[in-house]
Amino acid sequence: MSRQLIVAGNWKMNTNLKEGIKLAKGVSKKTKPSDPLVIMAAPATHLHAVAEVVKDIPGIQVAAQNCSQELSGAYTGEISVGMIKAIGAKYVILGHSERRQYFKEGNALLAKKVKTVLDNSLLPIFCCGEPLAVRKAGNHARHVSKQLREGLFHLSKKDFAKVVIAYEPIWAIGTGVTASPEQAQEMHDKIRKMIVRKYGDKIADNTTILYGGSVKPANAKVLFSQPDVDGGLVGGASLKADDFVKIIKAR
Ligand code: PGA
Repeated sequence: MSRQLIVAGNWKMNTNLKEGIKLAKGVSKKTKPSDPLVIMAAPATHLHAVAEVVKDIPGIQVAAQNCSQELSGAYTGEISVGMIKAIGAKYVILGHSERRQYFKEGNALLAKKVKTVLDNSLLPIFCCGEPLAVRKAGNHARHVSKQLREGLFHLSKKDFAKVVIAYEPIWAIGTGVTASPEQAQEMHDKIRKMIVRKYGDKIADNTTILYGGSVKPANAKVLFSQPDVDGGLVGGASLKADDFVKIIKAR
């Protein structure tokens, strides 16, 4: 698949069903086919309803925020790829730093989840990014490289070509501190070069790499205009339709 401009909203554990439907409707009313692809990662309880709201709008897709690596069975509380697919979602966010930190999801587990998602015709949005201490020590590229090697680089070329990557420095998530456009570009360029080394120029050039971490209407344009930043994964600012729409239209 070719590189695509994407603006994805990660609602996290926010909104009730009514609020979620209102938000999805508010965003869909204002988006146009010429906008970047819009993805709404709603809570699992709203996915079906949100998918219904956007089902006839070609430029909007729905994502789950996580899934099980198992296909079905006695896994209380988990959600399978089959369930996600059946309600019309196309993407699954995997490896968000909150899943890594609070739910102890490591690279080995994420490698399994990525494979399960792709084997079942869904598309992963794979998150990577370093904590502040790692950035301060100057080890951010090494940290992200390990996340990619252990979580993604087991994939065949054909499968890897379907993956969307989101670089989200943990120190920028929900903190109001955004990576500077130069910091974002530097890491996105490094990530693309890591992909070149593993999968070659063509696949690397076609890989969509999103930036995440305090993306707002005020900083989206400058971030998205960096040559290796292909859009954003937006948390807080995706919860207000007006702000999210401004980010979608930022470029
Ligand atoms: P934020 O979250 O935009 O609220 O910083 C981004 C994310 O966690 O994906």
